[in-house]
Amino acid sequence: MAQRTLCIIKPDAVKKNVHGSILQKILDSGFKVRGIRMAQLSENEAGKFYEVHKERPFYNELVTFMTSGPVVLVALEKENAVQDYRTLIGATDPAEAAEGTIRKLFASSKGENAVHGSDSEENGEKEIAFFFRESELV
Ligand code: RTP
Ligand code: MG
Repeated sequence: MAQRTLCIIKPDAVKKNVHGSILQKILDSGFKVRGIRMAQLSENEAGKFYEVHKERPFYNELVTFMTSGPVVLVALEKENAVQDYRTLIGATDPAEAAEGTIRKLFASSKGENAVHGSDSEENGEKEIAFFFRESELV
């Protein structure tokens, strides 16, 4: 069964001008893009999106980072999309990410780590709905 997951190409990667390379890697790995747009997240949006981390020590830093410049929001679809995309991006901390993964190749640090990926099918659907109307998805 095809599954959907949300990718965010984070501000560090857009600033480094590697959003095209990241997207190509995702496409080369068999994902279909069902929705895509650039956005400048507001503090309110980023705060709400990462609300599960509200009590974590890195929350404020994370919201500041995610609003520090434009991001690319991408709704992806593939069989087993959630797990396969997380394998493709690698561990949260690029120092721990496997060779060839997007974070190993493009992330700067554990905080500024190039991409976001949904962590479950349920959250994938929720996160896509957070940023896209059904009419914006193909
Ligand atoms: P994401 O949600 O962005 O795909 O990342 P993830 O599942 O791999 O990691 P998660 O634990 O959900 O953390 C969300 C984001 O918060 C930042 N972070 N900074 N400085 C730190 O110790 C720290 N830990 C997490 C990262 O940007 C991480 O992707
Ligand atoms: Mg996460």
